[in-house]
Amino acid sequence: MVEMLLVQVALSVATPTRRATAFFAPNAGGGSNLDNAGNGFGEPLNVIISGLSSPGVLTLSGLENFARAVGFSTECLGIHLGGPQSANLGDGNGFVNQTVELRQDFGDPVLGTCEETLEGGNHFRVWQQNGSAANSGAFFLAVSQEEDLQEGHTISPNGYNMGRDALVAAAVGTTSFSGVTYSTTSQQIMGLLPAGSAGVNHGIAQDGVVVLLTVTIV
Ligand SMILES: *[C@@H]1O[C@H](CO)[C@@H](O)[C@H](O)[C@H]1NC(C)=O
Ligand SMILES: *[C@@H]1O[C@H](CO)[C@@H](O)[C@H](O)[C@H]1NC(C)=O
Repeated sequence: MVEMLLVQVALSVATPTRRATAFFAPNAGGGSNLDNAGNGFGEPLNVIISGLSSPGVLTLSGLENFARAVGFSTECLGIHLGGPQSANLGDGNGFVNQTVELRQDFGDPVLGTCEETLEGGNHFRVWQQNGSAANSGAFFLAVSQEEDLQEGHTISPNGYNMGRDALVAAAVGTTSFSGVTYSTTSQQIMGLLPAGSAGVNHGIAQDGVVVLLTVTIV
């Protein structure tokens, strides 16, 4: 807890923008970096889009444009498989349902997510930390790699770590979509999520690393 606070202070000093804080640790406010999958288990919130990102990234439409720059899009023709998951980000809002779910679009932002829906791929669910008790504006993402529809769209073995790492690899550096260019840096954060499979949906172990992405519009 003390370490986390130090990290936050250091980050806020390093990158002055409109927001003052990269994120608040959900577990400091009674929340968790595991969401609630509705079956007694949860999926790791393993990527955070920093509250120190450009203000234009920290809106739902801003996040969706960034996601398109990184190879993700909204779900296939609005078809949504599976129920929403909820998360408590420790911001005073308690458990809230995911705001949006985005899927790998295989280079086609319009229909590509249909391919992900049928054949599997990377996807993530999104929550924004904006309750009045911890209003960082950061987005928390539950990222995982899925098997194809024949496999029942379950998470691949090692799918949490793989999904996170693939998203981070696609995001870091310079990306652009629809005339907006992003410069993105990453940093590993420990201490938000215990490593292992305890309480984790599908019993799939993950390494406990949460990656903080700071996304700057250039
Ligand atoms: C999430 O959405 C489901 C289905 O729409 C609803 O039944 C449930 O009450 C919602 N949960 C929360 C925490 O809002
Ligand atoms: C919090 O964020 C969600 C998702 O971006 C949004 O729907 C909601 O209106 C926001 N709430 C506040 C109080 O800004």
